[in-house]
Amino acid sequence: HSSTGKSIQERANELFQNKEILAPMVRASSIPLRSLALSYGCDLVYTEEIIDRAITSTDRIYNEKLKTIDYVKKKDTFSKKVLKRMEKNNEPLPCVLRIDPELEKDKLIYQIGTGESNLALPAATMVANDVDGIDINCGCPKKFSVSGGMGAALLEDLPRLCDIVTTLRRNLSIPVSCKIRLLKDDQQTVDFVSAIVKAGANSVAIHGREPGDESQMAAKLDRLTNVVQLLKSSSIGVPVILNGDLYTRNDIVNMRNKTGADGVMLARPALYNTSIFRKPPVDEVPIEGEETRYGFDSKLLFDKTTVVQDYLRHSLRYEGHIKNIKYVVCEMMTNRRTPTGLTPWMPIQFSKGQCINDVCVSKTMDQLCKVWDVSTSLTPQSS
Ligand code: FNR
Repeated sequence: HSSTGKSIQERANELFQNKEILAPMVRASSIPLRSLALSYGCDLVYTEEIIDRAITSTDRIYNEKLKTIDYVKKKDTFSKKVLKRMEKNNEPLPCVLRIDPELEKDKLIYQIGTGESNLALPAATMVANDVDGIDINCGCPKKFSVSGGMGAALLEDLPRLCDIVTTLRRNLSIPVSCKIRLLKDDQQTVDFVSAIVKAGANSVAIHGREPGDESQMAAKLDRLTNVVQLLKSSSIGVPVILNGDLYTRNDIVNMRNKTGADGVMLARPALYNTSIFRKPPVDEVPIEGEETRYGFDSKLLFDKTTVVQDYLRHSLRYEGHIKNIKYVVCEMMTNRRTPTGLTPWMPIQFSKGQCINDVCVSKTMDQLCKVWDVSTSLTPQSS
């Protein structure tokens, strides 16, 4: 992923400007969902958050069979008892991160969970040659993250965050970015972003909620709009990415036009129907009054059966973890209400009346694929 002759900021501009991005999602944004999103037209994908120590306790291995780079937990991180059980059950050592170097070339950001520069640097250095950028998670409000000085704790400790950003910036030759949430007030948020850019951040994604906000409540899109407009009019000099409740192509286009943001990042909208990344042809101008065809009833969207079946094919190709696959399939099948009260992509009718229970009781990929009529001998490459 080397980029000769370009400054790191130029490289970051190329990576983030005008991009529709798959957000980092623990349990979901591993390689099957990332490759599915890319196949539908997503421009850039983030790994799920992986804590610094989880990376540094792995070995980097080239997987000949899958043609992937695997970061596999070192044997000596397990007790003898656990190792014995794993051997008995024929369980492989857990793979913390799997990358397809061909498919994800120029399109992959590793999101690090970290609270200290001396832990962040060895982890980021270890993966730097396999990814296009390192993103620091500065938004996770979960107790595990915050009590370790990570995630949203970094929003309350600017010097610590700047130390991490500067350390990564000085020692790596790929862009460093931050994913943050809104702070209490708009000007405070703008000042915070300015400070991390000064410390060396090459791009910033802003989730339009505050750390204490429930994820089910509507994102504060008016505040997000104001913050991004202020940043853009202050010539912040780095790409700014919008995140939060962008459930339709109309939402995406309207928010980008209104704010001047460089790109958008989708988490749940992409989890519920990954084909949201399918874009209209660039030369097609929406006819006035017919904008809804880029909305919930967009002709571009695939029905959910197709999306689940495609996701299973990508999971087979990359031998994803059954627990994570079941989680993602259940999320795809659930008709969640969005904070604005809309239920996107209704109604979901599955071809054979598949139900969540069929997924829950599946113990193997064979069983899961049978529920969905997906052949286990076909992969996206061979099909
Ligand atoms: C997340 N989110 C998240 N954020 C992050 O920075 N690192 C992570 O690993 C995760 N993990 C995660 C898992 C799941 C299942 C969800 C739903 C969300 C937050 C996510 O990236 C995003 O900021 C919010 O979900 C808001 O965006 P949407 O969902 O409105 O597009």
